[in-house]
Amino acid sequence: MILSKVSDAGIAPQVIEKFKSIFGGQPIVIRSPGRVNLIGEHTDYNNGFVLPAAIDKAIYMAISPRKDNELHIFSYDLGQDYRGSIDELKNSSLHWPDYILGVIQQLQNSGHRPGGFNCVFGGDIPLGAGLSSSAALECATVFALNTLFGWRLETNSMVKLEQRAENEFVGVQCGIMDQFASMFGRKGHVIRLDCRSLDYEYVPFNMEGIKIVLLDTNVKHSLASSEYNTRRKQCEQGVKTLQEHYEGIESLRDVTIEMLDKWLAASDPLIYRRCKYVVEENTRLLDACLDLEKGELRAFGRKMFGSHEGLSNQYEVSCPELDFLVEHVKEVPSVLGARMMGGGFGGCTINLVEEEAIEGLVERIGDAYSRAMNKELKAYVAQIEQGTSML
Ligand code: GLA
Repeated sequence: MILSKVSDAGIAPQVIEKFKSIFGGQPIVIRSPGRVNLIGEHTDYNNGFVLPAAIDKAIYMAISPRKDNELHIFSYDLGQDYRGSIDELKNSSLHWPDYILGVIQQLQNSGHRPGGFNCVFGGDIPLGAGLSSSAALECATVFALNTLFGWRLETNSMVKLEQRAENEFVGVQCGIMDQFASMFGRKGHVIRLDCRSLDYEYVPFNMEGIKIVLLDTNVKHSLASSEYNTRRKQCEQGVKTLQEHYEGIESLRDVTIEMLDKWLAASDPLIYRRCKYVVEENTRLLDACLDLEKGELRAFGRKMFGSHEGLSNQYEVSCPELDFLVEHVKEVPSVLGARMMGGGFGGCTINLVEEEAIEGLVERIGDAYSRAMNKELKAYVAQIEQGTSML
């Protein structure tokens, strides 16, 4: 059982040191964080609402321009080297370079032509844990190149460009939440983001004595990208059916439960379940925001459990390990709320836990988890931090 309080100390200097030993010279250094999402899952690509925040786990990217068009990139965490050229961007068998190359391609498509660069990046966002290390890498890349080449891109357009990079180059049809949270994060606040208009509001996350605890199943969400794309298509299919019956429906944001009951419940129970979850999750999120404003944290927590229920039974993106962890804390009074977080099929649960109970809880649940699942549980206490910035 590992309970790690994450601290940034140590990682950035190591990355810079490595950069200097490989390339020499003085790089600029960008910090780009992972994210949590309190509620509102699989709603972003349905034009709905999300409630994420940037956290104190981040990627650090040390980077400097080259005189030619070559790309020399070193992943500090994986100890892997990538060499390529700005003029020939193609998917890499190493996979992680794709997040960087996809961003470069989108920059080129929008008329911005970066030159070559040297780069070392590394950090403490666990990979495949649903904390969006990939979005953090995309944010670091676009932020770094925007700074190096002096384009003055607007933050909003950088975020949209990253999403396109992931959709088109990496091939995951993700929504905009992860990139938005990593880029726009503000210390001590969650972001209430309307994914249709991209209007957003910072909501103070004042939970005296309550911490965000992430329980990591250690199941890598390998199913995630294929099933993710399937879920997206299923939602689109639901919208298509309803468009045959109603005017002005562009996405599930425009849909009510009554419409679903009338046109999908009997004819297509699977699509019905998927769409119903999304419509309910949007309502749950808006209600949860009211709870947060009123300081009614227990009510907020109950909505998190409700969200998990929907994700597990209606949207079917959970897995036995995630269900085990949520089930296990349901009756624990020191846990206000819990649910699986992110795309699903593995990764972490997010839990709101009374601070003094954390250690005991993590120990108990860690033991139970390893007995039941034969896997080690990792736990992290996450703080809400600033979004992508230059060090
Ligand atoms: C992944 C995607 C996001 C979002 C979540 C589910 O993290 O990258 O866009 O859809 O899954 O809420």
